[in-house]
Amino acid sequence: MALLEVRDLVVGYGPHPVLHGVSLDIEAGETCVLFGLNGAGKTTTVSAIAGLLAPSSGTITFDGQPIAGRPAAALVASGISLSPEGRRVFARLTVEQNLQLGGWVRRKDAAVARTQRQLVFDYFPRLAERGDQVAGTLSGGEQQMLAIGRALMSQPRLLLVDEASLGLSPTVARTVFEVMDRINDDGTTVLIVEQNAGVLPYADRVLIMEKGTLVFTGVGDEIRDADLRSTYLGA
Ligand SMILES: Nc1ncnc2c1ncn2[C@@H]1O[C@H](COP(=O)(O)OP(=O)(O)OP(=O)(O)O)[C@@H](O)[C@H]1O
Ligand SMILES: [Mg+2]
Repeated sequence: MALLEVRDLVVGYGPHPVLHGVSLDIEAGETCVLFGLNGAGKTTTVSAIAGLLAPSSGTITFDGQPIAGRPAAALVASGISLSPEGRRVFARLTVEQNLQLGGWVRRKDAAVARTQRQLVFDYFPRLAERGDQVAGTLSGGEQQMLAIGRALMSQPRLLLVDEASLGLSPTVARTVFEVMDRINDDGTTVLIVEQNAGVLPYADRVLIMEKGTLVFTGVGDEIRDADLRSTYLGA
């Protein structure tokens, strides 16, 4: 049994579905990358997994439990955490306060909060130097680090990162990918939404979505289709 099993997921924002029956598995311990062009449905997929959108049909199973339609806060407590698209940090709050809010569901366990904060500072030493800085004044790369760090504060088993590298310089993007790789090595299962093929060396598995449907699932090397290669891998 995979850690996350999605079956025949249909999700939309009104009467018209955006996801047309998506099925995918994420195995415990892997790094999975979801590629797709703008509007393909990637954010819709991770939002449904994180409990921010209720599916109109289909199932989502996490660690053997059905979770589709459960509220996001309950899912954070169960171990699913999302770093949202657009690095939505709380701009008027400090780095420390952002991290504290990320750990809200574990707030009664001071030891977890301490361990996770230390871990976040280990992964992103830049954040440690900027605890009192107001998040809105961080650079784009630092805000992305904070968004991921905040998501880690709840000690997730499955970390979803929507658009890990969008708008970042190649150097900062690589730093983020390398840290994602460490997070995965340290035992967290990871799903990264990306449009940058630079993430491929870190991916155990690749999913490609087109118009609300998965058109490829496998390891990157198996992508034989020339159109898929040129569209998503720049090769
Ligand atoms: N709140 C919303 N209300 C109505 N339609 C929406 C809403 N959010 C997304 N959509 C539509 O759903 C489709 C999929 O959007 P989604 O954000 O999931 O794509 P995406 O793959 O994440 O794209 P991007 O790479 O641009 O982030 C798009 O056609 C979009 O216009
Ligand atoms: Mg998106």
